[in-house]
Amino acid sequence: GGLDLVITGGTVVTAADSYAADIGIKNGRIAQIGTGLAASERIDATGLLVLPGGIDAHVHLDQPTSDGTTMADDFASGTRSAAAGGNTTVLPFALQIKGQSLRACVEDYRRKAQGNCHTDVAFHLIVSDPTPQVLGQELPALVQDGFTSFKVFMTYDDLVLNDAQLLDVFEVARRERALVMVHAEGHDAIRHLTRRLESEGRTAPYYHAQAHAQIAEREATHRAISHAQLIDMPIVIVHVSGRDPMEQIQWARGRGLKVFAETCPQYITLTAEDLRGLNMDFDGAKYVCSPPPRDADSQAAIWQGLRDGTFDIFSSDHCPFRIDATGKDTPRARTSFKWVPNGIPGVETRLPILFSEGVSKGRISLQRFVALTSTNPARLYGLYPRKGSIAVGADADLTLWDPALSRPIRQIDLHHGCDYTPYEGMQITGWPVRTILRGRTIALDGQVCSEAGGQELSRATSEAFARD
Ligand code: URP
Ligand code: ZN
Ligand code: ZN
Ligand code: ZN
Repeated sequence: GGLDLVITGGTVVTAADSYAADIGIKNGRIAQIGTGLAASERIDATGLLVLPGGIDAHVHLDQPTSDGTTMADDFASGTRSAAAGGNTTVLPFALQIKGQSLRACVEDYRRKAQGNCHTDVAFHLIVSDPTPQVLGQELPALVQDGFTSFKVFMTYDDLVLNDAQLLDVFEVARRERALVMVHAEGHDAIRHLTRRLESEGRTAPYYHAQAHAQIAEREATHRAISHAQLIDMPIVIVHVSGRDPMEQIQWARGRGLKVFAETCPQYITLTAEDLRGLNMDFDGAKYVCSPPPRDADSQAAIWQGLRDGTFDIFSSDHCPFRIDATGKDTPRARTSFKWVPNGIPGVETRLPILFSEGVSKGRISLQRFVALTSTNPARLYGLYPRKGSIAVGADADLTLWDPALSRPIRQIDLHHGCDYTPYEGMQITGWPVRTILRGRTIALDGQVCSEAGGQELSRATSEAFARD
């Protein structure tokens, strides 16, 4: 039969090439790529780029926090924001609370997501309590059910795993062929620096960046790499912030180790100076995230890593808290930076920032842009080739992009539940104008379609385990 929809006149961009072509869509999938295609419904993409839909592989939605503050986005608002920002799939976390069964945790997040998502979703697990039951039964069963990646933390009181626990978890991951994402910051070093700063009366949000020193990130990155090498399994170092941890990843790669790396918008746009706020005041809490943004030298290093392939993935690490009493600004947080909830919003601004600062300014190619934001996340997290490419048979997940549209980022234009953006006023050249999920337009010129047609995706084993 005929096509349901054609997208005509655009420039199709993949991780491998760019070419002029029409795309024919049938039953939510790409059925034809060619010229002169026709269907009852047509979208004119003249002057636009046609990209595989963005895949944001690192977002936090509706996670409870131990101090009772609430995250600014649930699955509805977080995925609405994602869709407006050119994304068709997001990978949020199902966070295990200590003492909780991993299976119960997953069911809990599924309930929160069910029927509320504007994009497709697939969960990573966060393993915080690697009991014998979790390691022996629950985790292997969940990997078999398609939860083929999970995150572990080397810091945070509620989440930290010691080295012995890390090795135990790595062992299970290797056996089950699950990809482990590591939050690499040294807990003891951070605690030590925090105590010292507090004893000196240095308690403003600004000092968060000193407590979470880059040395502590470098040390933990190396420790994670060494432990993964001992077990002989691949890992992803997530949210790499600067030159020092990046050098550890390059060191490992140079020795043939399978170490993958992710970085985020905050590490190319913000610096530790932003945590000063207006005058060393609480406004700096708007930029408190872990690892914190570093300095101009680290920004330059990160750009080099985005260009040369040190980084595989560019995610937002969207983790939004309002800058009010429901989020960052609690009485406790006013007494010390260590109580300020960590995380900043960014799911809607991730693609525009990388496009504008990267592609429009000539720092990276269009192909690198697509690889970092869609194709590589799909490959590493078991969604490829259904997601992450423009090819016959793939889901018709497409983002139409206007490379010439220039306007600033403004909080009032965003769709997230947060009450600020760290990127207010930043001038962006290149914006998504239409987001298409399985053939249906979910966002158009900043308006998100009201229906929540996103599905939970089942995932295959990561390509990190492919034989080489
Ligand atoms: O500060 C951050 N990044 N919060 C989110 C949680 C995490 O560690 O990714
Ligand atoms: Zn993290
Ligand atoms: Zn995160
Ligand atoms: Zn609709």
